[in-house]
This record gives sequence, C-alpha cells and structure tokens, in this order.
Amino acid sequence: MTPLLSTRRDLLKAGAAAGALLSVPTILAKEAKGANDFINIALIGCGGRGSGALANALHADPKTRLVAIGDVFPEQIAQSLAGCKGHGDRTAVPAERQFIGLDAYQKILALPDVDMVILTTPPGFRPLHIEAAVEAGKHIFAEKPLAVDPAGWRRVKAATDKAAEKGLCFMTGFCYRWDMPKVEAMNQILGGKDNNPVAAYTREVLGVTAPAATLIGDVKAAFCHYDSGLNWVKDPQPSWSKAETQLRNWFYYTWLSGDDIVERGIHNVDKMCWAFNDEAPISVHAHGGRQVRTETKFGNVYDHFSCRYDFGNGRYAMLSSRQMANAAGDVSDRIIGTEGYFNLQDGRPTVMAHDGKQLWRYNNPNGGDMYNNEHNVLNAAIRAGKVISTSKQALNSTAAAVMGRISAYSGQNVTFAQFVEMKEDLFPKDFKIDMDLPFPEIAMPGRTKID
Ligand SMILES: NC(=O)c1ccc[n+]([C@@H]2O[C@H](COP(=O)([O-])OP(=O)(O)OC[C@H]3O[C@@H](n4cnc5c(N)ncnc54)[C@H](O)[C@@H]3O)[C@@H](O)[C@H]2O)c1
Repeated sequence: MTPLLSTRRDLLKAGAAAGALLSVPTILAKEAKGANDFINIALIGCGGRGSGALANALHADPKTRLVAIGDVFPEQIAQSLAGCKGHGDRTAVPAERQFIGLDAYQKILALPDVDMVILTTPPGFRPLHIEAAVEAGKHIFAEKPLAVDPAGWRRVKAATDKAAEKGLCFMTGFCYRWDMPKVEAMNQILGGKDNNPVAAYTREVLGVTAPAATLIGDVKAAFCHYDSGLNWVKDPQPSWSKAETQLRNWFYYTWLSGDDIVERGIHNVDKMCWAFNDEAPISVHAHGGRQVRTETKFGNVYDHFSCRYDFGNGRYAMLSSRQMANAAGDVSDRIIGTEGYFNLQDGRPTVMAHDGKQLWRYNNPNGGDMYNNEHNVLNAAIRAGKVISTSKQALNSTAAAVMGRISAYSGQNVTFAQFVEMKEDLFPKDFKIDMDLPFPEIAMPGRTKID
C-alpha cells in the first residue's frame, strides 16, 4: 500500500468508502497523544547518530522521554546516556531497561510503554529491526539507508507497507529533506506537486515562506557528488573475534554498510531522486574500485564510485562518491532544467535562468537545524495522530544507491526492474558476535556476478 498521510479519522472514512481499494486497516492509526502525555522513546544503536537522533527527539518536545536503550556494546550505552544527562528525569533509564547484545532490540520492542524507536545501528541490521518494530506496533525513526541489498529492500518494503496499515509513523534519516534551504528550493522546482506524501506536511510544520513555483521548467539532468577525505578506521584488537572486528569497523564491510555509495553517497542519490520528483531510475551504468584504500583493515569496500542514472525521456544524472585523502573534495548537487539551474547543496540555494538572471534565492532566517526539523515533523505527527511515512522516497533512494553499487561491483548495467527481483542477501547466516566470520570477497567488475 502506498504510504499515507492521514489522521485516524481519515483512515476510518477512507476505509469505509474505498473498502477493498485500501488493502487495509484492521488496525488503525495509534491515537493522538494528549498535550500532557509523554511520547516514550527507545534507542537501538547508541553511536554518533543514535545519540544525535535522541537529542533531536528530546529537543522536539518537552514531553518526550527516553524509556529504554540498547546496543551490542555496553560502553556505547554509557556514552549515549552520559551525553543526554542534561535532560534530567527525561533520560533517567534504569539499569533493567538498558539492554546489551544482538538481541537488545527484541527486549526493547517487547516493552509495551515504548511509543517510538530510533533505529541507528549499522544499516545491515535495518531490515531485521524495522520488521520487528512494525510487528511490535511502534512508531519508527530509522536512519538511512533502509537496506544494503535487494533482499533487505524487499523486507523493508513489505514491513513499511504493513506499518502504514497499522497506523504507524515511519520516518527516515534522509535529513536533507528537512533542511529548510533545500525544502524551500525544491518547492521552487516541483511547484508543490511532490511525488512524496510527507513533503506538504513538512512544509506545513516547518512554515515554508516562499510560494510554490516551477522556476527551472522540466528537470533534465543532475550532477551530484559526495567526494571527501578518509573516514575513521579502528585497528583490530586481539580480544576481538573476526565478527566483532567487522562489526566495529562496519563502514568497511558491504554486508553492514552497503559500501560508501549506499551508506554516505546515498544522501546525494536521495537529492538526485528528489530532483526527479522521487521517480525510480530506470537503470544505472556504474564504475568503481579500490585504488588507495587497499589494506585489509579497510574491509571489502571500494573507495570510489561513478554512476550514470537514466530517468527516462532523455533525463540523466551523474553521481560520484569518493573517499581519498589529498584528492579534491566536492559535495554538491547541480540540478539542470529546461529553463534554469541551481545547486541544491548550497547553503543558500540560488536558482538561475540559463541567460544568467537570478530567479530566486533562499532567504529564510528561521530555517532551524535539519536534524531537529525531522524530529519536529515526526513528533508533530505522532502527537496529532497523523500517519506519516517517508518509505516511498526512502525505498526509492535506497534502491537507486544499491543499484549503483551492484552495477559498479559487477561491471554490468542494472535496471530497477532487475533490482527488485535480485536474490542478493549479504547478511551472514546465524550471525554471532564471537563467530569466526570469513573476510568477504572483494568485488571485481567483469568477474563478480549479479545474483
Ligand atoms: N543522516 C545522517 O546525516 C547520518 C549521519 C551519520 C550516520 N548516519 C547513519 O546512522 C547509522 C549509524 O551510524 P553511526 O555513525 O551512528 O555509527 P556508529 O558506529 O557511531 O554507531 C552504531 C552503533 O550501533 C551499535 N550496534 C551495532 N550493531 C548493533 C546491533 N545489532 N544492535 C544494537 N546495536 C548495534 C554499535 O555498537 C554502535 O554503538 C548508519 O546507518 C549511518 O548511515 C546518518
């Protein structure tokens, strides 16, 4: 079912009127929270982003509080809790509600008082955690990407369809969708007719100042880059098993991160898909390799990707993502239309006509912080009893990024139609933290087969 933006009453009305048209709702949207009711949050994955997302959720509303927390490593929980001490009782989680281990998510999701979960582990676990959270009837904030392979993508698609049927909010960490300069700029490009059910609600909650317009005509091309220096890497310790070594260095293992294009470059993939109004790309032709970061400690991922996406009707996008020291950095998203162009990643996006005339410039001093904004929107929806879901946009961008990786690894062109049917499932069987997990294969274009 397509994600909905509706109140519980809307769902009831639609269900009665449309009957079988909505494949729906036996269980309806969770009731709105009263102004004095707390929204109870649990955090699963207490790293940098998890701790940040928790802070954003606590900032969204004085009536949010942390009621449970989990991670595979105890020091991570301690660090997250220390970081949010300033919130006093709102983050005073008793020891019996701090869960350590790979099964921490199950123990947290079994707690009936948890309203919303923040899922911020490495992405390889995301399908498992989203499925379980939907099953448990929790509202979800899930970081990007939603999956690292086609099998995981299908699991998240099925789970998020079910979330909409159960009346659960599903919000993702594609944070630029809540960055006010970009929200307002895209409103000047898509004319307020976004193919994304949450966009209008986002503009309503965030208070967009400029009226909608279609200033650059039809979008024909995009040039998007996430080219930067090196990421962190942790030297293996003698006490770590092979599995723990991979988990602690998750970015460098495709089964955990999806590789750089899926974990980091996906932000630009997402902005590219946004410019094409969240249509799925028809196909991708990609290159990539491991040129500088060749040591074993860098796992099996590549250090550069370059992709051409075909959006049909003569519309194309180029995307690169690179992590190399001492090479030119470039994080930008240049969008070209029939009548003009702009760079979506500019701090103050400026829309230009092809004759050089400035058509519009972002000028809103009250844009706020994008990470806070996304939780403000989610929180407003939960409190109002509205069912919002960004799954359509987020699944589309996740698919586009994974397609790019598969194309680069195999050296073959990959279509969206192929992607949705592919068998590839990278998650290790019966994963345990102390297991002797083999080092994964390093892909070779022209030799690595598409599964
Ligand atoms: N939207 C953004 O701007 C942004 C920025 C950074 C990271 N992220 C995303 O957030 C996610 C986390 O990234 P991070 O930088 O916080 O990584 P991190 O390594 O700092 O944190 C991950 C945490 O998850 C824990 N963990 C690992 N496996 C687990 C499991 N099975 N169950 C419970 N806990 C587990 C780790 O111990 C660690 O504490 C990633 O998906 C990443 O792409 C998004």
